[in-house]
Amino acid sequence: MPVAASPAPAQLELLAEEAMHCRECPLWQGATQTVWGEGPARARLMLVGEQPGDKEDLAGRPFVGPAGQLLDKALQRLGWPREQLYVTNAVKHFKYVLRGKRRMHKTPAQREAEACLHWLESEIGIVRPQAVVALGATAARSLLGQAVPVLANRGLWLQRADGLPVLVTLHPSALLRLRGEDREQAFLRWIADLRVAQERVRLATA
Ligand code: URA
Repeated sequence: MPVAASPAPAQLELLAEEAMHCRECPLWQGATQTVWGEGPARARLMLVGEQPGDKEDLAGRPFVGPAGQLLDKALQRLGWPREQLYVTNAVKHFKYVLRGKRRMHKTPAQREAEACLHWLESEIGIVRPQAVVALGATAARSLLGQAVPVLANRGLWLQRADGLPVLVTLHPSALLRLRGEDREQAFLRWIADLRVAQERVRLATA
C-alpha cells in the first residue's frame, strides 16, 4: 500500500523505519541510532527540539534526558499530559564532540539541519498539528525557513508559508545552564510561553 494511502500511525512507522537508514549527512556515523519523533499520529500540537542528546541517542527516544525531564516538569505544572503531544527534533541524529569519554552536545550545522528537514516536514505532513512549538533557534530556523531571534520572538505566534502557526520559545537546555533563582524565574517564563500554545490548541477544539 502506498505510504500516503495508509493510516497516519502506519505512515509514521514506515518513515521512522526509513529514517533509521538515513545517510544524508555525516551525523549518523557517530550516533547510535536515528531518534524519531513520538506521540499520537494526530496530535494537536507538535513540539520540536534541536537534536537528540546523549541519553536520547542511547534510548532512541526524544527528550528523555535532563532537558526532557525539565520539559516533563513544565508539562506537569500545566496539567498537560505529554502523551497528548507529538515530540520530535529538527535533526534526528546526535551531534557531539568527545571530551575524554564524555559526549558533549555540539550544535548541528545549517547543512545538517537542512538535510534532515524533509523528515520533519514529513512528520508535520502526516500529523497535521494545529500548531507547533519551536524549542530554540535550530527548531525555529528549520520550521520557519529563516533565522529567528528567539528572545525577541518568544511567546509569539509566527506563521509559516503553509499557514501553520509556530510559537517560538527557549530550548530547555538554555534553562538548565542557569542556576538558582535565575533558573526558577526563567522556568516560570518558559511555562508561560508553553501555556500560550496550550491555550491555542485547547480553544481551537473547545
Ligand atoms: N534536546 C533536544 O533538542 N532534543 C532532545 O530530544 C533532547 C535534548
